[in-house]
Amino acid sequence: MKTLPLGNTGENVSALCLGVLYYGNRIGKDQSYHLMDRYADAGGTFFDTANIYSHWIEGFKGGESETVLGQWMADRANRARMFVASKVGFAYPGVEAGLRAEQIVTECEKSLQRLQTDVIDLYYAHVDDRTTPLEETLEAFDRLVWTGKVRYLGASNFLAWRLEKARLLSRAHEWMEYCCIQQRYTYLRPKPGATFGAQISANDDLLDYVASEGVTLLAYSPLLNGAYTRADRGFPGQYLGPDSDARLVALRAVAGETGATANQVIYAWMIQSAPSPIIPLMAASDDAQMTENLGALEVTLSGTQMARLDEAGA
Ligand SMILES: NC(=O)c1ccc[n+]([C@@H]2O[C@H](COP(=O)([O-])OP(=O)(O)OC[C@H]3O[C@@H](n4cnc5c(N)ncnc54)[C@H](OP(=O)(O)O)[C@@H]3O)[C@@H](O)[C@H]2O)c1
Repeated sequence: MKTLPLGNTGENVSALCLGVLYYGNRIGKDQSYHLMDRYADAGGTFFDTANIYSHWIEGFKGGESETVLGQWMADRANRARMFVASKVGFAYPGVEAGLRAEQIVTECEKSLQRLQTDVIDLYYAHVDDRTTPLEETLEAFDRLVWTGKVRYLGASNFLAWRLEKARLLSRAHEWMEYCCIQQRYTYLRPKPGATFGAQISANDDLLDYVASEGVTLLAYSPLLNGAYTRADRGFPGQYLGPDSDARLVALRAVAGETGATANQVIYAWMIQSAPSPIIPLMAASDDAQMTENLGALEVTLSGTQMARLDEAGA
């Protein structure tokens, strides 16, 4: 599978990262194994999970996604070839929200056990914690790096200025810096002032920041739960702004010209984004979705098509 650099780490990771949020919970073990096999057969090695996935689904308490990924890697004996990302910071049953040092250490140990591994390749602060001093959080993360439990650090759901503040602080202390940022990001732009609870959408400020600093943006919820192609899924109201019609017209026109689906064009538009490619968090619940989504790697958008997509509704 095509790879892209992960920030300034020198590491290259799969251009489509497989989000396994629903694996091992809403999607049962057999189907989860099958979909992870398909991704791996296509050369994919980059997996995204979190300690809390997916406690909000009835019958589950969190951790099941890490568990099925860990079990799959053990059964397939492929851990050494895979690049595994997990996260800490949101609450789930028995665990409070936050990024205090003790929470980071304890949750990391639990994630390592569930993943059946000695090291997490990329460990994210899942959400900013404005009540804990940044120094406490960053020092705790750095300690995980030098004790060998974590290789790289990422942030998620941070405002650009908080990310910059954290990175400067880490640099000053010679601690490992966040190399990437995982935010909500799709082709439609949120209306001005739109909010998503604790989730933070990548805005122009953040896009400019990551491009300038060599920080990688990873995009979650890129397909808006399938809304671009499925009549049964409406677009969240936050995305129905003054430019949304123009954006959808451009998206569908480019899809028609390339013979690709709108979903594939969105992934391809992110991966080909210049100067800083964006890595989409790909989710697939069945074979048809996996086939379509992996097919995005075969889609090449021309410079003109990229510009039309970028500028639509501007
Ligand atoms: N950092 C964070 O705060 C955060 C937040 C959310 C997600 N994430 C990560 O990002 C990953 C992706 O997020 P997401 O699930 O919200 O992504 P999404 O791209 O918005 O939606 C994925 C969903 O869309 C449907 N879908 C997928 N491919 C499709 C296709 N080709 N055609 C039609 N429908 C399709 C499936 O829904 P059905 O299963 O209903 O068919 C799938 O579960 C997660 O797995 C997780 O790892 C991170």
